This record gives sequence, C-alpha cells and structure tokens, in this order.
Amino acid sequence: MADLPKDLLTEIKSLEEAFTVDTTKLKQITKHFVSELEKGLSVEGGSIPMNPTWVMDFPDGYETGTYLALDMGGTNLRVCEITLTNNKSEFDIVQSKYRMPEELKTGHSEELWEYIADCLQQFVETQRSDKAPVQGKIPLGFTFSYPATQNYIDEGILQRWTKGFDIDGVEGENVVPMLDAALAQRGVPIVVSALINDTTGTLIASAYTDPKMKIGCIFGTGCNAAYMEHCGSIPKLAHMNLPADMPMAINCEWGAFDNEHKILPRTKYDIIIDKESPRPGQQAFEKCIAGLYLGEIFRLIMVDLHDNKDVHIFEGQDIKHLRKPYTLDASFLSAIEDDPFENLQETADLFKDKLQLTCTQPELELIRRAAELIGTRAARLSACGVAAICTKKNLQPCHVGADGSVFNKYPHFKARGAQALREILDWPAKSNASEEDPVEILAAEDGSGVGAALIAALTLKRFSKGDVAGILHPENFNVAQVHFDDLGVYIITNFTIGAEAVEKAEDAALIKHRRDIFREEGAKLAVILPEGIEINGVIQLALF
Ligand code: GLC
Repeated sequence: MADLPKDLLTEIKSLEEAFTVDTTKLKQITKHFVSELEKGLSVEGGSIPMNPTWVMDFPDGYETGTYLALDMGGTNLRVCEITLTNNKSEFDIVQSKYRMPEELKTGHSEELWEYIADCLQQFVETQRSDKAPVQGKIPLGFTFSYPATQNYIDEGILQRWTKGFDIDGVEGENVVPMLDAALAQRGVPIVVSALINDTTGTLIASAYTDPKMKIGCIFGTGCNAAYMEHCGSIPKLAHMNLPADMPMAINCEWGAFDNEHKILPRTKYDIIIDKESPRPGQQAFEKCIAGLYLGEIFRLIMVDLHDNKDVHIFEGQDIKHLRKPYTLDASFLSAIEDDPFENLQETADLFKDKLQLTCTQPELELIRRAAELIGTRAARLSACGVAAICTKKNLQPCHVGADGSVFNKYPHFKARGAQALREILDWPAKSNASEEDPVEILAAEDGSGVGAALIAALTLKRFSKGDVAGILHPENFNVAQVHFDDLGVYIITNFTIGAEAVEKAEDAALIKHRRDIFREEGAKLAVILPEGIEINGVIQLALF
C-alpha cells in the first residue's frame, strides 16, 4: 500500500477510523448488550424483543417420527419431509426449494400465503405421491424467521417485518391462521402445528448432535440468536406461574439491539442504510452485520468516494450501475476478500463485469481494504452478541451452532469472530493450536428443517405427557405416525401408550387388523399387521 496516492491513503485512514471496533469498545458493547437482554425479558421490555418460543427442552437424540417442515427464510422457500430415525441423532431428509419471488416481499398478504400454499401442495403431491393417501391432516413445523409474539407455539403474531420484507396486512396479525386458511382453501391436508424461528431451530438441531451446543445463531440475510432461559428468569412470563427451573428457548431478535443508537459505532453509511430502509429506526445491530446490508454499505462508500471526495474514484466513468441500491450483495464482498492475486485481478474483473467500471491499482487497494473493514466489523460486532449471552448465562465452556450465508461463505468471518470473542472474554493465549476455545462457534445442523422437526417431536413428547402449556390447538398433536420397518412391523410413534390409549387404539380401524400388539419403550407402539394391508404416511387416530 506504500505507493498509494496521498489522498487515497487519507480516505483509507478515515474508513479505518470509522469501521474499526477496538477491544475497549467491544467490551462496552457487550456490557450494554447483557443489560439489554435482561431488559427484553422484563415486564417493561426493551428494544430487544426476547420472544419466548414454547420450545421447552433440549432433544436427547432419541426423538423419532416423520415431520413436514416449511422454511420461509429471506431468500428461498424450502419444504422438507424429515424422518428422525431410530438411530440416535440420525435423520433422513427429502426437500424441495422454491424461489421466493422478489415482488412477493413487498406485495400483499394473500399473494404470499397463496404462493406458500401452492408450494406445499406441489410438495405433497410430488414428493409424497408414493405414499398412501393421508387420513387427517399432516402437522407442519413452520419456520417463520421474523420477530413474532408467541403466546403459544402454534401462534405467531408478527411484530414487524425485517430483512427488507414489507408485506401489507401481516404486522400485528397471527400468521398461522393465514397460512392454514390458504391451505384449507386448496384442500391441502396440512395444518401448522408449530411456528419456529430459524435460530431456535438451529439451537435445537445443533444440540441434537452435540449436547454442548447452548446457543443457536444465524449470520445470513438477517442476524439473530436463540438460547435456553429458565422460566424463573423471565419476569414477563411470571403471570403464567411456570416452574422457575423450567427451560424456555428465547428467540432474542437481537437484530434490534441498540435501536436507540446509544453504543454502536455508526458511520454515515449506516445512517443512510437505515433512513432508506422500509423500517427506519429498526434492526440497528442487524443493519451493521447481516448479509442483506454488507454489500450496500460497500456500495454507499464507493458512491461517496466518487461523488464527494477530492479523490473521485472511477474518475470520468459513468457509475450508473453502482448507483442502483442493493445491487451488490455480500457475495460480491466475499469475492473481493477472496481474491488471491497480489494485483487484485479478480476484483478488477468483478468491477468490469458487474459494474462496467475500470479500476486503477490504487483504487483496487482501497476496494479491498473497504471490504475487509466491513467484513471485520460485522464479525467483531457479532461476537458481542455471543459474548453477551455467554456472560448472562455463565455458559463458558460451550459450543454455539451457527448457520447462514455470511457464517458459511464470508471469508475469515469465523476467525475474526473468534478473535473478537477472545478479546472480549479475556481468554489467555492457547497453549497449542488444536485446543478448543472456551466458546467455539461451529457450523450448525439444519435448523429450519431438522430443527423444526425436532421441535415438533419435542412438543408432541410434552403433549403426550399431558403438558399442554403454550399449545393453542392440542388437537393438531393428536396424530400418530406409522412407518414400516425392516422386520415387517409398523411402528406407530407420537402418542402416549397409556392403558387407556391402547384400549382406544384397539377400537381404531388400524389396530383392528392387528395380529399382535405390544409396547415398546417410550412413546412408541408397534403393531404387526397382516400381509396385504398397506398403511403408511401419517394417520390421524382419535386416540385421546
Ligand atoms: C431477522 C429476523 C429473525 C431471524 C434473522 C435470521 O433478524 O427478524 O427472526 O432469525 O433475521 O434469519
């Protein structure tokens, strides 16, 4: 960088000043974060919603059954059928992805639910076509990754859209009946039995294969985390008189941290992003970190350096492509940071192909440095959230399950985050490189698919034991599942095998055909059926 013209160097210096978050600042942010987490749990509330989710246990790895899950993330829609097998912590998954049309994100409510119902219908008709017709309705775990108030697990009142969504008629409403109505209208035999945030799904899916996992994070289009709290530490739930030691997963919605702009170091670019967004004043933390915004922060810097500074980067060139908001996504920055060449040839090509701009060598240096600064700030600020939860819950040592495009694909994000955690939590230097940090952020299992299935399984387990706290429609859990195993035995899972249930089961058509009936451990009933009787899929049995 020694050969850079003086005015470019000055610009790089001022970007460094604006975007660098030193250890002292990281610690201050974390401290404030801890108190904001507390505030969100209080009756008065704060800017972080800290939403109770009615996910009230970690999995033990022995959950079983087949579940349908729908993931409505920021970019795609995904429908999955997940089978939690009889082998500990193992699962099979069949899935289809559908693109979420851009215009739906700012359209009308009915169009959204109709589109989702169509995708689900297509999935059940194609992916499940080899299965016997379904009797009753298939319960669905709906991963709806936006802040939602849940008085019940099968309810989700949208607090506000995030991640650039702005669909009329949904904020303040319970989304579950909206989707159910669209499904019923098409005669699709599916009913939403649990509404799940992607972070809660990530927490539960990760804990299924690694019991050390105590926090689930998403660093993707949006940014958020979930962890397990005790009901006794959630003053805003005190009126429900739940046992103080009962666990309750909290979807923090930490993207809203510092909406009042007290502590985060905001640059003028952050201020523009906020002002131009569909929800100014919201998601202050997320707007500094999440994939949706990283490319836009970078674009704003480039435009500023072309228009307003002495340097005038891209001098004499038409920057019309660069002027288009949100034209660059986080993968553009990833590619810049990944450029392996000393002369930044790939970056030059990228600017030529995507933006029709020719860059000088000093400009390329500045571009690279700007990308590094944005990516580093995002990783370091993210670490403050993780450190805050670990501090609040005294979680060291633990593992943190993380998912999302930024975590999985953005160069150096993990290492930069780990370095920031070390600074915030004052860990001593490692004695050898293979040693684990007291808090390790690791790649998570698929939260929106497997996590959703596990949450449905855990809720069923709870329901089977007679615990219906936080379940609005218990009748949707009155579902037994029947599978054919290798030995010619139909296994029915997902309902209590109390004496009364067996008696009632014997009255049900399915069991009348039995040759033998016997009990297994846990909530499982195996029935041997005579040859020639074909039953598979999910069957609604009126057992209770
Ligand atoms: C946004 C949403 C939140 C979600 C996160 C990651 O922050 O509000 O619910 O978990 O994005 O997808």
